[in-house]
This record gives sequence, structure tokens and C-alpha cells, in this order.
Amino acid sequence: MNCCVIGLQWGDEGKGKVVDILAESYDIVVRYSGGANAGHTVVVGGDRFALHLLPSGSVRSNVNCVIANAVVVDPDTLLKEIEGLAERDITLDGRLFISENAHLVLDYHKTEDRLREESLGKNKIGTTIRGIGPCYADKVGRSFALRMSDFKDLSKLKDKLRNIVEYKNKVFAAVYKAEPLSADEIFEKCKLYADKLLGFVTDTTELLHRAIAEGKSVLFEGAQGTLLDLDHGTFPFVTSSNSSSLGMPASCGVPAKMIDEFLGVCKAYTTRVGGGPFPTEQDNETGQYIRDRGHEYGTTTGRPRRCGWFDAVAASYSVTIGAIDCIALMHLDTLSGLKEIKICRAYEIDGKQTCFFPSNITKLSQASPVYETVDGWEEEITEVSDFHKLPAGARNYVMLIEELTGKPATIIGVGPKRGQTIFR
Ligand code: IMP
Repeated sequence: MNCCVIGLQWGDEGKGKVVDILAESYDIVVRYSGGANAGHTVVVGGDRFALHLLPSGSVRSNVNCVIANAVVVDPDTLLKEIEGLAERDITLDGRLFISENAHLVLDYHKTEDRLREESLGKNKIGTTIRGIGPCYADKVGRSFALRMSDFKDLSKLKDKLRNIVEYKNKVFAAVYKAEPLSADEIFEKCKLYADKLLGFVTDTTELLHRAIAEGKSVLFEGAQGTLLDLDHGTFPFVTSSNSSSLGMPASCGVPAKMIDEFLGVCKAYTTRVGGGPFPTEQDNETGQYIRDRGHEYGTTTGRPRRCGWFDAVAASYSVTIGAIDCIALMHLDTLSGLKEIKICRAYEIDGKQTCFFPSNITKLSQASPVYETVDGWEEEITEVSDFHKLPAGARNYVMLIEELTGKPATIIGVGPKRGQTIFR
């Protein structure tokens, strides 16, 4: 059984916890998109792991981990993560495989990301400043791209870096009046990265096909969410990769028809970090209530997340384009204590109601949500492990989400820990 876990909103849906729980039953967990912009939180016992590049399955020492082609790898962050796990006696030796075709995020990408965002002022995208956009731009542009395989020939890498940094410095000086970066310093860091990471580098497409042919089970882990997908999200307020499930086959070289189940992860409400339209946003006391109870602050940047009601129009769109079979509904406990809860079941745009999400932001900005208001529940639910023992308000709310998205919620999150999960 191969499964793909994918976020149905604007990221931060709780995929880390879901993947960590499911990973127990899989041989391999694959991270297939984005880079260190992601922040997947896994809580094991009293320990909290914030993973940016390693698949969330990496905290389980019996699981093999793959970083596939379309991930952009910041070697500095990756090494810190590997070392952080080693300090907790979790080793990745012999079970981490990084695609030789994965592109490298280096200092000049992060500098470019920061300079561009600063120069855009109020028109900025609100990126994580992790160099993601500039790295993917270099990948598409090809001439200045570097991949994991470039660590194999350091003298060639030195020459390539000289050319790249010379070009980048010209742009930084001319456009942003910024200080130049040193190619030599970046090369020295690369020598260290090569030394520590080359042992993990391989052809991950071959590895995955061999494993599947041998009957091994693979869990594909999406980063960010469907609505941040470069082609199908709310462009330009998106990330620079195909973060929906549509990006999985392209990144891994594994066709979608080899996947048995697509599991969509969403929160029982909606959040978004950075700019862009957000029809059900509650920039008020309700939003603050959700932010406080749900600890809605970015794992990667610490920024407060924008919070709002569950948007069934947006979630259904993600279900449709992601071929989602079932849903993991996370953070249900965050909504405890609310007398009434709203759920957006349609948009009104230009006086007409629609249930199909317009990813084009000109249209989306004109959408006003059509809400249904339902009773909330008072009780804390973090210790409930049986769906039927949830308060009636919570059960009805889950069933309404199932009705509106047309998919069963087979996993329900009622707290951050592994055990605080209801399986149906
Ligand atoms: P970038 O991916 O750093 O270029 O940021 C582009 C947009 O995607 C910004 O609005 C970010 O806040 C958002 N974003 C990127 N990664 C994540 C994530 O893991 N969770 C939530 N939002 C993200």
C-alpha cells in the first residue's frame, strides 16, 4: 500500500503528526517538494521535533527516508537537523537517501529572497526567506543551478560557484546596492557539506522503483499545502513548487497510478501565513482565540498565523484536484469552548453563489463567504479516543465537514501528541 499525504489548505495542517503516526506502518517515507520553508512538528513523548527538510518519518529509526528530486535542499539546515536527531540518539546512517538531482539552496538564494522581499515593501509575498523562490528560479533557468550531485566533483563546483557568485553579486549591487558575497567562503562551506552529505546521495527514482517492485510500502509526504501550489494555488501568494499532490509524480518519478491512497490533511479551521486573499479570515477576537488555543505561530519563522473559519469551498477544491480519498481532520480540540462555529459552504462572487474555488486571486478577492452556523461544544476533548464519545457538537461538526467535502474523516486530531488521535 502506497499513500500520499497532502495538505488541503495553505500549509501547517498538521501533516507532520499524521506522517509520524502513519510512518510506523511504512518501509519508506519520502519528502517530495519545497525546502526548509516547511516546518513539520512531531511530538514524541516529551520531545518536540521541528523538521524542515527531513521527512517526518525520520524520528522512527526503523523507517527509511528519501528526499526526492524536486526538494530544494539547504545543506546547512539539513546538517543541523541530522545532527539534532543524532544528539537524541536517532541516527540516519544507512537509512537517509537524498536525490542526486535535488537542487541546492545556498547563501546567495537566501540573500536574494530577503533583498527582493525588502524591496517590494507592502507588495511583498511574505516568503519564509529560506531562498526557496530564487533556488527554483535557478533550477528553471538552468545556467546557474547546482544539485546534490555537484558535491561529487569539488574542483568543478569551485569553478561553477565562482561564475554564479560573480553574476549574483553584480545583480545584488546593481539592483539592491547590496554587499557582495564571497565565492570562496561559500565554497569552503560546500566542502564541509560534501564531506558530510555525499554518503546519503543516490538515484532515488531507481531506489523507489526497486522498493515498490519488492513490495515495500511507501508514504509520500507533501510539504506546504494545495492552495500554495505554484500552478494551482493562489498565485502569486504561493510557494515556488507544486506543493499539491500533483507535484508528487514529477518529483519522485513515481506515477500517480502507483499510489493506493491520497490522504488529505486539514485543520478544523483555516490558517494562512504571509500575504494573499483568505475569504474566511477572522481578524478579530475569534481569530485570536483560535491562534492562542491552536498555538498558531509559524514553526519556521515564528510569525503569527492568520486564522479563520473552515472553508469547505477551498478544501473541496483541494480534494478534487488532489484525488483525495479520505481526510485527516486536525486540531479539532482548538475549537472547544466556542458557543457557535461557522463553516463556509459557498462563495458569493458578483451576486452569484459558487462552490468551486477560484484559484485566480482577482476573483477570489471578490468572494464573500456564505456561512452555515452550527452549535459548538464546551468540553475539552484532548483525552477522547472514540468518535462516539465526542460531544454532540463536535461530532456534528465533523459530519458536516464530511458532507461538504464528500470524503470521510478517518483520522481526527484532538491534541499534539501521537496518542491524541481518533481513528475511524
Ligand atoms: P516561500 O515558500 O518561502 O517562498 O513562501 C511563499 C509563501 O508560502 C508565503 O506566504 C509563505 O508564508 C508560504 N509558506 C511556505 N512554506 C510554508 C509552510 O510550510 N507552511 C505555511 N506556509 C508556507
